[in-house]
Amino acid sequence: MVPGGEPTTKLTEIKVVKDGNIRRMLEDGVTAEKEAMPLYRSAVKVAMEADDPVSRLLYEEILGDEEGHDDKFTTLFGK
Ligand SMILES: [Fe+2]
Repeated sequence: MVPGGEPTTKLTEIKVVKDGNIRRMLEDGVTAEKEAMPLYRSAVKVAMEADDPVSRLLYEEILGDEEGHDDKFTTLFGK
């Protein structure tokens, strides 16, 4: 679900290239993490504006997870 978006039952298409290229797979992972974080930051803001602390906490926890994933990918690339 994207805050402010239209509700849907369709899943977001995830780009997956299965060619055995580990570096490309990791780069795709980095891209996915970097795209996810702003969405969750936006969700936190929407929850705060809606005075919905439970959803805010949920999105903050997910955002923390995504930041951890981003850190792992960044470490793997030695950046
Ligand atoms: Fe993640």
